[in-house]
Amino acid sequence: MRGIILAGGSGTRLRPLTQVLSKQLLPVFDKPLIYYPLSVLMLSGIRDILVISGPGHLDQYRALLGDGDRLGIRLAYAEQDRPRGIADALLIGRDFVGDEQVALVLGDNVFHGHDLAPLLREQVAKLSGATLFGYAVADPQRYGVAVLDGDGRLVDIEEKPRRPRSNLAVTGLYLYDNEALDHAARLAPSARGELEISDVNRRFVAEGRAQLVNLGRGTMWLDAGTHESLMEAANYVRVVQQRQGTRIACIEEVAYRMGALDRSGLHAAIESVGVTSDYGRYLRQVLDEH
Ligand code: DAU
Repeated sequence: MRGIILAGGSGTRLRPLTQVLSKQLLPVFDKPLIYYPLSVLMLSGIRDILVISGPGHLDQYRALLGDGDRLGIRLAYAEQDRPRGIADALLIGRDFVGDEQVALVLGDNVFHGHDLAPLLREQVAKLSGATLFGYAVADPQRYGVAVLDGDGRLVDIEEKPRRPRSNLAVTGLYLYDNEALDHAARLAPSARGELEISDVNRRFVAEGRAQLVNLGRGTMWLDAGTHESLMEAANYVRVVQQRQGTRIACIEEVAYRMGALDRSGLHAAIESVGVTSDYGRYLRQVLDEH
């Protein structure tokens, strides 16, 4: 399976923060936002990942993450010349994905939970069609919303409905088999002029090939697209990390634990981050403990 992180968009809601910086490079407490979705793909067992961002921003991502070698993974980069919609990522990523399955994640989505990694791996292993992840929220009208029948089966998805028919938001992590590329290629732009990911998902729903996995209360999901939600995400990460003494989305640790990095690779990562930061010292601790 191949992974795509969509990290473009105009970021207008966050200006002047995003006047120069790409939104997904903004800090969420102690690390850039993109580390969180990147760690989700890595925890799913994916090692080939395409980062898509807007004009003028790709060099920043390249400078931060490189070719992935220091994480034992392979990273590629592609430009989205303007925000044509989330489903455009499947068009841009077409050659990269080839004939494989694909996991698409939005660059501003933060997921965290104890059972998340095994859940994701299980869903990747049994993927057929589309697997979407639902999350109960207080404000579903801000999201793609799942419509379920009496037996709890997914029967429709409504994008930002004024009167939501459930409280289950469809999160920004989508597992697809290769057919998604063809669905995306056949899309017409929506009323707001975008290639909507909900339209791709609806095609799978119409074929009876879409599953919704409810992430449940044991998982935290945030999309950090506004000042408030960026702050909420940072606070969440700070509280959990300080209480537990662990780190969320520490990509070097994830790489090490998944076996993509060996001890000398982790050592090299520590050298490059340096132990003057808490982050670097945490990596040293991970190395010492194992
Ligand atoms: O976060 C989950 C929600 O994401 C889903 O529930 C919705 O169904 C889905 O449409 C999407 O809604 P948003 O309103 O959050 O989408 P937004 O336009 O803000 O884009 C999400 C991220 O993707 C954002 O960080 C910018 C990036 N993006 C977006 C578009 C449209 C791109 O990189 N390129 C694009 O063309």
